[in-house]
Amino acid sequence: MRWVFLGAPGSGKGTQAAKLVERFDLGYVSTGDVFRAEIKKQSELGKQAKKYLDDGLLVPDEIVLGMIGNVLDGLWAKKGFILDGFPRTVPQAEQFEQILAERGQPLSGLISLEVPDDILTQRLLERKRADDTLETIQKRLVVFKEQTEPLKRYYRDKGLLFEVDGAWPVEEVFESLVAIFK
Ligand code: AP5
Repeated sequence: MRWVFLGAPGSGKGTQAAKLVERFDLGYVSTGDVFRAEIKKQSELGKQAKKYLDDGLLVPDEIVLGMIGNVLDGLWAKKGFILDGFPRTVPQAEQFEQILAERGQPLSGLISLEVPDDILTQRLLERKRADDTLETIQKRLVVFKEQTEPLKRYYRDKGLLFEVDGAWPVEEVFESLVAIFK
């Protein structure tokens, strides 16, 4: 069980991943959480990443790809894992494919959580994380459509795309995902 979660900001990636990780005893990495932890520590990586998170932009691929080997390290010995927020661009997906091939651990699939923009915006405004201002949310949605959504085609062409309606209540979305994981 090796899954990637892709979905617009607020689509429920983190919420659903936490429940699935517990149900199926999987490893988990959220690159957004990694950056937020580094920003809190005021590390060099955190300082580099902060301006991008604050502006609702993606951290440049060279920074993400420079750190991703270390970030994924704890996952290979697990019986499976969920990656939340990586890969997020086509170059990231290409490098990830190479890493998986080197490890001999193919991906089970990419889950795309589909939620309309008005519901996403509402959820994020209610959550109130530092990057959840209306201006930043709108920017993140544009960036998602331009830079991350093309990954759906990349994985569809490989027969690995699973689209799930994420607009339903948490438990109903969870049951759809459990059915796919099983
Ligand atoms: P990241 O942390 O990945 O943020 P994101 O993709 O914008 O996603 P969110 O965490 O906002 O939403 P989510 O889908 O996890 O939803 P959640 O479950 O929290 O990345 C942050 C930043 O880091 C990026 O903008 C970028 O700068 C950088 N970054 C990270 N990875 C990168 C990479 N690979 N390359 C480059 N840059 C990278 O739910 C949201 C809210 O909705 C919650 O309050 C929740 O309770 C609620 N909710 C969830 N599901 C439901 C439901 N079904 N019904 C009602 N409410 C719900």
